[in-house]
Amino acid sequence: MCGIVGYVGQRSAIEVLLKGLKRLEYRGYDSTGVAYFEKNQIKIQKSEGKLSHVENFFKNHPTPIAHCGIGHTRWATHGKPTTQNAHPHRAGHVVLVHNGIIENYPRIKSELVAKGHRPISETDSELFGFLVLDEMNDGHRLVEAVRRAFLKLEGSGGVVVMSEREPGLIVGVRNGSPLVAAIDPQGGVMIGSDAQPLLEYTKEVYFLENEDVVVAQADGLQFFELKSGNPVTRLPQTLDWTPERLDKQGFPHYMLKEIHEQPVALVDTLNSILDRAQSDSFSLASQPGADLLRQAQALTLVACGTSWHAALLAKYWLEQFAQIPVNVELASEFRYRTPVLKSGHLVVGLSQSGETADTLAVIRDLKKKGIKTLGLTNVRGSTLQREADACFLTAAGPEIGVAATKTFLAQLMSVLLWAGTLAPKTPTRDALFTEILKLPHHLKSELESESGLTQSCQSAAKKFLNAKGFFFIGRGYSFPIALEGALKLKEIAYVHSEGYAAGELKHGPIAMIDDQMVVVVLVPRDHWREKTISSLEEVKARGAKILSIGSALDDGLANLSDHMIQIPDLSGVLEPVREALMPFFLAPVIQLLSYELAVLKGTDVDQPRNLAKSVTVE
Ligand code: M6R
Repeated sequence: MCGIVGYVGQRSAIEVLLKGLKRLEYRGYDSTGVAYFEKNQIKIQKSEGKLSHVENFFKNHPTPIAHCGIGHTRWATHGKPTTQNAHPHRAGHVVLVHNGIIENYPRIKSELVAKGHRPISETDSELFGFLVLDEMNDGHRLVEAVRRAFLKLEGSGGVVVMSEREPGLIVGVRNGSPLVAAIDPQGGVMIGSDAQPLLEYTKEVYFLENEDVVVAQADGLQFFELKSGNPVTRLPQTLDWTPERLDKQGFPHYMLKEIHEQPVALVDTLNSILDRAQSDSFSLASQPGADLLRQAQALTLVACGTSWHAALLAKYWLEQFAQIPVNVELASEFRYRTPVLKSGHLVVGLSQSGETADTLAVIRDLKKKGIKTLGLTNVRGSTLQREADACFLTAAGPEIGVAATKTFLAQLMSVLLWAGTLAPKTPTRDALFTEILKLPHHLKSELESESGLTQSCQSAAKKFLNAKGFFFIGRGYSFPIALEGALKLKEIAYVHSEGYAAGELKHGPIAMIDDQMVVVVLVPRDHWREKTISSLEEVKARGAKILSIGSALDDGLANLSDHMIQIPDLSGVLEPVREALMPFFLAPVIQLLSYELAVLKGTDVDQPRNLAKSVTVE
């Protein structure tokens, strides 16, 4: 979950590291630090809290002349987010940053202590420095010492290490947690835990394979196999993300910018998943994943968090249009079960980051057992893309806000396209395609309308700011969006909220309803409407405030609501298609609503407390 950056070259290392860490702050932000060579000594500057603490230090002191360094932004696993536990860590002349978990750290620690080493932090990471130090004391150069030390670790992770004995050299190892390297066209090289800090300088990046060692010096990069130490060739890949796409571009928060980028994310994802040159509208772009999908007799979708909500919606669409059996599983549960998977079964991991530990564990495990695996991710070169038998890429572009927004909608677009591909060729399928093509434009005008969604969400947020809690309810396609609404509100506004299938309320949760509660009722014009309205009446009768999201033409709903947010009705569109597209309008509403509530509450919208963007540890 942590962010790592390294640089050696002619530029100011401090500037490159701080800029890089800014790009990586979304990965973890409870403490930050940099280490850099000043002459032949390594200096460390680190602090608990956000990157601004370290930035302020350099603003208030003359910037050191340094051309080689490493930096880290942390999401704490072992040990509290204090300055002492912040990375980089020092062990004598060795300094390192680490991302991941050292599972055998208790044993390593007791052995190191028995040898006389005195770790000062509560982290597992610091111990690695002492392992390297011991190897160097035994006469090995830094590269070999890092390799040997790394082989003593259990667990998954990535490290980047320097030593005062070998100035101008940075050694990195990838085993589980991603590591990316690049050559700066102006001279020098850089390393990152993802490509974002490197994009400022180049689009040609080297994704390390698992068990790769990278050796970075000002004049180039070398790669070695971890186990044998033999050199290995790695080829660069060209990325299509631009640095401008990483900036806020005038929006107060990344999250708001990313909500507004959703129409483009939909278009780009459609173009990434489909081959538009083919005569059949739903032709998948030629790639191994297309064959896997077409051959599958049943699908098991595994994911976590928001991606799990996308998988739930996928189930509804795939069943409705393609009539294929679909299971949806939480990766953290599924990985420890003994699932019964028959031949013809395709397991699909959905992960925006492509780095979620639980989802990857399922894919790895089942692949070993001979089950075919497919990935859906937003990050080219991510572990999911590399490890699944095949992978589709959503094209939402970089998402910096910790709360998933445009990556969610891009996932929805992808799985709906899969459903269309696998569906029998009928007029409904044709209509689905026609309406999917119109969708991005339609959503864009909703998001940009002066008196539209944003304003309505703002006034709802003001009206219900002091509610005791929120319930999001919906049926059918609206149910996964209800779950997502509750998750969004919790994660960025820290407001207690629950998502329920409307039909479940009577089975217990309705006991929570009183006049301090707001029930957000997702009720577009679909064949579940009447039943959802009954649930609305039941909670209204118990005093709940009703915030409904429904068709602009639904006067009956407006009359029952304390506040109604209107979404398009899509009248004139074939019923099953109209119903299926409603999540694309409901999702931006629940995102904007949570955003506006979070802004009013004054929380840190883009970097909410206790969270990180990619959950690379279990
Ligand atoms: O990268 P992934 O999609 O695998 O991440 C899974 C969840 O951690 C993630 O979707 C999380 O729930 C969202 N960031 C919440 O907005």
